[in-house]
Amino acid sequence: MHVERVGKELIVQAPAKLNLFLEVLGRRDDGFHELETLMWPVSLYDTLSFTPAESADERGAIEFSCDWQPLERSSRHAGTAGGVFGAIPPERPALDNNLVVRALHLLKQVSGTQAGARVKLTKRIPVAAGLGGGSSDAAAALLAGNLGWQLGLATDVIHSCAAQLGSDVPFFLAQSPAICRGRGERVEPVQLNGTGWFVIVRPASGLSTADVFRACRPSPFPRQAKQLLEVLSERGWEHAGRELFNALEPAAESLNDEIVQLRREFTKLDVLGHQMSGSGTSYFAVCRSARQARQIVARLRSRKLGNAFVVRGCR
Ligand code: C5P
Repeated sequence: MHVERVGKELIVQAPAKLNLFLEVLGRRDDGFHELETLMWPVSLYDTLSFTPAESADERGAIEFSCDWQPLERSSRHAGTAGGVFGAIPPERPALDNNLVVRALHLLKQVSGTQAGARVKLTKRIPVAAGLGGGSSDAAAALLAGNLGWQLGLATDVIHSCAAQLGSDVPFFLAQSPAICRGRGERVEPVQLNGTGWFVIVRPASGLSTADVFRACRPSPFPRQAKQLLEVLSERGWEHAGRELFNALEPAAESLNDEIVQLRREFTKLDVLGHQMSGSGTSYFAVCRSARQARQIVARLRSRKLGNAFVVRGCR
């Protein structure tokens, strides 16, 4: 998460994430699932602009607007290999009850500030895709509100606001690859070696996270993320690609045929590993190089399987 100040305006780059590992350990009484997941922020960004309101006339309102920016017009934000949208127009996130607006109202409630703000979100991360776009935007709003309104809220207060907003929001505050446990809010940053070049495809349809969790079955013999971490640090992606794992994939495939189609297509590629991210529907491959990633994007794009783009892991 990169924050830049231009006069009174704060500009935050909010990354997407990929789940390299996701195990479902059990169902909880509160309806959530106990998880262990390894997530890595990647170089596909939404941009949040936050400008504190100047005058008291604005009565503490949050004025929110949202634009889509197709990736071909913003390759700077999609990693050095650039990105492309295919023929599928992106879905727009809801303006009302948006996580950004909810995050700022929560900050106002927790801090007691009467301040308002003008907030503009430029979306590039596909929604309902398992890429964490909405959660990353919410984390960006918490950081921007705390700084821009000069609230001085402590890290643990911001973390607790993040956990209230969504299971993945605390991860994006950590600004690092991390193993997340609990329902996702217990974040342990980890060191990952190598850059990691990925191709992501978001098919035409999305999936609701709640629907996928409802359809999944917790594993009686849970796997652990540390195996992937160990292989990655000792032997690199050449071997770690085989350790990718996502326990939500069978449930998501039972709800969405496009993921099955993507898995079949990715199985034909000479990549180091591939799987679905989060609760889907995005599917990704770990590539051997930036060059291979660009070639694969071109091939997938010609097959019109969805919006395909190249990203790399954020440092
Ligand atoms: O926390 P978040 O709002 O992102 O979760 C969306 C939905 O996904 C939850 O309402 C819940 O149904 C499901 N979920 C779950 N277990 C988790 C995270 C999410 O069952 N650990």
